[in-house]
Amino acid sequence: MTSFSLECDACGERIEVSPRASVCSTCAKPLLVRYALDGVDGPTLIESWSRRPCDAGLWRFREILPIAPDETPVSLGEGATPLLALDDIDGLQGLRAFVKDEGRNPTGSFKDRGLSAAVTRAVLDGASSFVIPSAGNAGVSLAAYASRAAKRARVYLPADTPEMVVRRTRAAGGEVRSVDGLITDCGAKAREYASRTEALDLSTLREPYRIEGKKTMMLEIVQALGWRAPDAIVYPTGGGTGLIGSWKALGELAAMGVATAATRCYAVQADGCAPIVRAFDEGARAAEPWIGAQTRAYGLRVPSALGDALILKALRESGGGALAVSDEESEASAVELGKAGISASIEGGATLAAAVRLREEGELVDGETVILFNTAHALVY
Ligand SMILES: Cc1ncc(COP(=O)(O)O)c(C=O)c1O
Repeated sequence: MTSFSLECDACGERIEVSPRASVCSTCAKPLLVRYALDGVDGPTLIESWSRRPCDAGLWRFREILPIAPDETPVSLGEGATPLLALDDIDGLQGLRAFVKDEGRNPTGSFKDRGLSAAVTRAVLDGASSFVIPSAGNAGVSLAAYASRAAKRARVYLPADTPEMVVRRTRAAGGEVRSVDGLITDCGAKAREYASRTEALDLSTLREPYRIEGKKTMMLEIVQALGWRAPDAIVYPTGGGTGLIGSWKALGELAAMGVATAATRCYAVQADGCAPIVRAFDEGARAAEPWIGAQTRAYGLRVPSALGDALILKALRESGGGALAVSDEESEASAVELGKAGISASIEGGATLAAAVRLREEGELVDGETVILFNTAHALVY
C-alpha cells in the first residue's frame, strides 16, 4: 500500500487516517482516500500488476488500495470480471462497445468490490459488527463479507424489496430489518442503530473505503484495453460510488503517468428517480432530493445521494453527461444483452438503453471505445 490520508473533496480538509473514519467533520461530505502517488513509478507498477494472476481478483492492485503489505483482505474472490465485446447490438454499430460484466462477482453484483474493501479495512481496524441501508445488492454483499470475517451484519431494506433479496441476505447470515420507506429512510435507521451500538455504518460514502474497491472496475477495464483509458463510460447511477470510483481511478492512473487519455463519464438514471440528471441539466452543483421516487431498477432508486456534488463534478470535468431512461427501455435492453449471452440486471440494461440514445444523439462517435456496466446478474432480483 502507498501511504494515504483522507480528504474532503468539498472543503479540502485533510485528516489522518483513523479507525471508524466517517464523513468530513467540518462539512459532513464524503472523505476520499488520497495516496502519496508522487514517488510511484506507474509504468513499473502496471508491469507488476500485469504479471499477477487475475485470480488474485481486485486485490492484485493492492498498492493503491487501503491495505498494508502484511495484511490479509476479507475476500470471496471478487473482481477480475470479464470485459465482453458487444459486436452486434443494434444501435451501437460503429463503436467498440464492451460490457464490464459485474454479475460474475461472488454475490452477483459489483457491490462485492466495495464491501470487500470496506469490511477488510474495518476488520483490520477492529470493527466487530456492521450495519447498512440497502436497495438490495449491498445488503446481500455485506452479509456475505461480514460472515466471511465472522462478524455480524444488520441490513435495513425498504419493505418492497424483492423477496429473493431478503432471502439471500438472511442466507448469507445477515439480520434483516424491513423499513416502510425508501433507502433514505433505511439510512436514517442505520445511522440511529450505529449511534447506539458498536456497529460500523457502511452506508454509501459514509465511510471512505467502498469507493476504493469500486474503483478497481476501472483499473481492470484499463488493463484489459492494454493500459489505455476508454473514450466513454456509461454508468447506472444511484449513490454514485462506482462512477466516482472510476473517475478517481483514472485520476490516479494519470497521476502515475499511465492511461492519461480523457474518458467521458455518463450517468444513466431511471426516469422515475433522476435527481442527478435534473441537477446536471440545470447546471446545479448539488442535486435536490427527488420526490416520489419510483423505479423497478432498485439500485437506481436513490432520491438523494450524499455524493451528488462529486458525481456532478466527475460528469462535467470529464465532458460527459447525464440522461434518464424508462424502466421499459431498461428491461428491453437487458433482454437484448441476454440475447448476446450476458445475463443482465435492469440496471445493466439501462446502460445499453442510454448508450443507444447517446449514439443516436451523436455523443458517441464512430470508432470510440465505450464501456457499459452490467452491475448485477439477472438473477439477483
Ligand atoms: C445493480 C445495481 N446497479 C447500480 C447501482 C447504483 O450504484 P452506485 O451506488 O454506484 O451508483 C446499484 C446500487 O444499489 C445496484 O444494486
